[in-house]
Amino acid sequence: MRILTGMQSSGDPHIGNYFGMMRQTIKFQNEGKNECFYFIADLHSFTTQRSPEEFRQNQARCVIDWLALGVNPEKSIFYRQSDIRAHTELTWLLLCQTPMGLLERAHSFKDKKARGLEANAGLFTYPVLMASDILLYGANKVPVGKDQKQHVEMARDIAQKFNSTFGETFVIPEPEVLKEVETIPGLDGQKMSKSYGNTIEIFADESVLKKKIMSIKTDSVPLGQPIDPKKCLVFRFHELFGNPDLETLRKGYTEGKIGFGDSKKQLFEFVWEYFRPAREKRGKLLKDTGLVEKILKKGAGKANAIAEETLSKARERVGLAKKHLV
Ligand code: TRP
Repeated sequence: MRILTGMQSSGDPHIGNYFGMMRQTIKFQNEGKNECFYFIADLHSFTTQRSPEEFRQNQARCVIDWLALGVNPEKSIFYRQSDIRAHTELTWLLLCQTPMGLLERAHSFKDKKARGLEANAGLFTYPVLMASDILLYGANKVPVGKDQKQHVEMARDIAQKFNSTFGETFVIPEPEVLKEVETIPGLDGQKMSKSYGNTIEIFADESVLKKKIMSIKTDSVPLGQPIDPKKCLVFRFHELFGNPDLETLRKGYTEGKIGFGDSKKQLFEFVWEYFRPAREKRGKLLKDTGLVEKILKKGAGKANAIAEETLSKARERVGLAKKHLV
């Protein structure tokens, strides 16, 4: 089975991203029975991106974060969308098969418009670039968060339309909606989200991480009084991270021997250790731009061969020459 997904490079990954989506995505690769395509959807970010400097930084950091958190270029094909020319070329052929009405129904576009954001044609046609991303590689399954499900369904519609007009060309993809295992709470107990300003970044510096964890919202239970673990946000984080000493902690809570401060200190130690391997890998990659370049080059080579083959087929179907003259 071919599995493909794209990662938008926006901001530092936080614990909510990790437990919500990143961990599940990487699991597909490690199961070993799938052919996985993972790419950085950097062209998509131009729909909202203005600063070239910021673009470069986000793109480079996103590549490194995903590698650090478990994308293994030996087990998956990992590349940047912008390295593969076929994405933009196929987008044009698909645009000419896409009814305006289909794009007008996209939730993401409607939401942005409703919020009064200026919409460019890139934003409007975003789902068609995404369809190219998917169709070029003959992906069967596309794991995405539920906000992206409609986009994958549009890719299906566009592929079906193309196939029925020009003959069998594209594999019809299926969205695989990743369930949030549970809603990951933020520092204040609401859902962890950048827009609420309650995130814990995976790669925060030690002192920043500590400060954030110490600021997790707790009730005011006097020291020495028992605490109900079920009502404690800090305890929920211990559970989420799979702290093996959970029972000791529970006992300490109910006997009034462990207070919020101690629990938070333990949590900090645990989270710091949990991400240690990823952090160390990230540190190495940040220093070794040559290695990162090599990984991207290898991934792009493999991806490009597949994408070019599909593009040739599509070109031929619409009446173009299989290959460009020059
Ligand atoms: N739009 C997706 C997001 O915002 C990223 C993405 C781009 C993508 N192209 C894709 C996801 C193709 C899956 C398949 O998260």
